Amino acid sequence: MSTYIEMDSLDKSTDVVWHQASVLRNERELSNGHNGAVLWFTGLSGSGKSTIANAVDRMLHELGCTTYVLDGDNVRHGLNGDLSFSDSDRIENIRRIGEVSKLFLDAGLIVSTAFISPFQADRELVRTLLPKGQFIEVFIDTPLEVCEQRDPKGLYKKARAGEIKHFTGIDSAYEAPASAEVHITTEDHTIEECAKQVVNFLHSSGFFAIKKPV
Ligand code: ADX
Repeated sequence: MSTYIEMDSLDKSTDVVWHQASVLRNERELSNGHNGAVLWFTGLSGSGKSTIANAVDRMLHELGCTTYVLDGDNVRHGLNGDLSFSDSDRIENIRRIGEVSKLFLDAGLIVSTAFISPFQADRELVRTLLPKGQFIEVFIDTPLEVCEQRDPKGLYKKARAGEIKHFTGIDSAYEAPASAEVHITTEDHTIEECAKQVVNFLHSSGFFAIKKPV
């Protein structure tokens, strides 16, 4: 999947000049005591993205980090409520969340995003939007059969019955990441173990090593 929103449609705001912020990102990161990051969770519906993202968020919060979670189902109630599940609307969904994540990163936060984000090209586009090393792809690798068996919202059942069209994994594609920074197989692990895998990655990559001036 390589289609992306027509770039000329992103060029309608003419005669606008970037205004430099007075408080810079690194100053905010120093106050927070950690570097900002975008933890980009991707996986099928029912794979555990939101559950694990929220468990990570809880762990980070308890470590004193400044954090936030952007969740697909929630964001589609508001900001992206005008978008369907067609390929082009999913692409726009991810583009907007990429931009929102960039703002959160600029605020010095560790932001977790939990969107199916089925297309590799769109995830890569978000990666290029952000400073190097601060986009961390977290693949929640749960087989379709398991997601379908869990079916927490009854959506797979509806999709199989033809009541929902373009359902990811059924009649819409999911492109698994080829080289995610964190690859989590959920089947044999508890939620806590999965969340720790992400927090350990941040730890070993030096995200908490930032020193506040004394
Ligand atoms: S994405 O593909 O555009 O990244 P997103 O993460 O925002 O999807 O939303 C996925 C959630 O919407 C799913 O967890 C599910 O609850 C719901 N949903 C409703 N219709 C669909 C569909 N056709 N395909 C996938 N998820 C759907």
